Amino acid sequence: MHSLHQRRLLLGVGGGIAAYKSAELVRELTRQGAEVRVVMTAAATEFITPLTLQALSGHPVRQALFDAQAEAGMDHITLARWAELVLIAPATADLMARLALGLADDLLTTLCLATEAPIALAPAMNRQMWAAPATRDNATLLTTRGLHLLGPADGEQACGESGLGRMLEPQEIARRATTLLSSGPLAGVRVVVTAGPTREAIDPVRFISNRSSGRMGYAVAQAAAEAGANVLLVSGPVALPAPAGVERIMVESAEQMYTEVMAHPCDLFIATAAVADYRPQITAATKLKKTAAEMSLPLTRNPDILAAVAALPQPPFTVGFAAETDQLEQYARGKLEAKRLNMIAANWVGERAAGAGFESDENALELFWPGGSLTLPRAAKLPLARHLVKVISEHFHQLRPSP
Ligand code: PMT
Repeated sequence: MHSLHQRRLLLGVGGGIAAYKSAELVRELTRQGAEVRVVMTAAATEFITPLTLQALSGHPVRQALFDAQAEAGMDHITLARWAELVLIAPATADLMARLALGLADDLLTTLCLATEAPIALAPAMNRQMWAAPATRDNATLLTTRGLHLLGPADGEQACGESGLGRMLEPQEIARRATTLLSSGPLAGVRVVVTAGPTREAIDPVRFISNRSSGRMGYAVAQAAAEAGANVLLVSGPVALPAPAGVERIMVESAEQMYTEVMAHPCDLFIATAAVADYRPQITAATKLKKTAAEMSLPLTRNPDILAAVAALPQPPFTVGFAAETDQLEQYARGKLEAKRLNMIAANWVGERAAGAGFESDENALELFWPGGSLTLPRAAKLPLARHLVKVISEHFHQLRPSP
């Protein structure tokens, strides 16, 4: 799951030996979908070349404040406004001191004064430098001003000593950056949403499918992302764009959907997809010809994705959907129990839905959980999904209180 999808990070690189790890950090951040712009201090360029970080970030690396050519592209104030997070790794003792003093004597310190984005520092220095009273005071002052300190870690240092002052590993810095960028009731929560129909191939041109448009699932994915979650949408074939900030994997069949869902562990699983329960036993390699007056098509059961997720040894908080044409509560509660879910959102489809449900812009949901229920009245799918995500997040936090 790409938790930093489309997030804008300004990475400041200070002049310490840990600067060599910033190459790995840029790779990790971009791998997670972030757009990264790098600013190096003059000292940082003694440890790693700007060309390396340019190649990894895909953007020119900024170094000097007075660089007419670079300023003509994106001036430093625009760059400061562009950033959603300023991440400085490594943050040396000198850089922390200059930030504490409020200096603006190079591009990086100037950007830190000019930005409204949160600033996070990953300190890296010799253990005695970290323990020095001046550094301690600077660290306290910076955190009092709202800057975030990521680490340092305890361990072996480049100077051969061991102690507190080592920079956190790039993966850990990226993980903490993700948490800092998240806000809302599902901040930092990994959510997988399935949406749309599946297609079960009969032959190269025909398939079994259903009427799901994907609109409900896409609205749920968007609402979860708005609530701060890192959302992966595993979608069957639909004609909808991926919601902003949501990573999407497109699949065709139930088996493909199963494989993708099981490959992506999450904290919260919401199954809105209308997954085909059966698929043709055999998919013909060539187009079937009409010969006999009748034909029968043997079907075989598809894996139940929702039940498989709920049966994991450490299952996520699991929410199913139930599309029913009759006996809505009875069938929905049956699925809640049989599949051992935390919650199920039931909706009418067919005649009883009166224009809502499948293929419609509107829907209404009846929520059931062990020992409770709630009606979410008919509304457009996005506001309805926001309402649903709010209720889910309340139940999620009751079951898994935040540390
Ligand atoms: O896509 P739209 O046009 O916006 O329509 C939305 C919707 C009506 C499809 C949606 O709101 C909905 O109800 N989705 C679930 C439909 C459904 O297939 O329900 P079910 O009762 O067959 O399945 C119960 C649950 O098990 C569902 O969460 C389903 O995703 C899951 N399931 C089912 C079979 C299977 N093999 N694997 C599964 O994960």
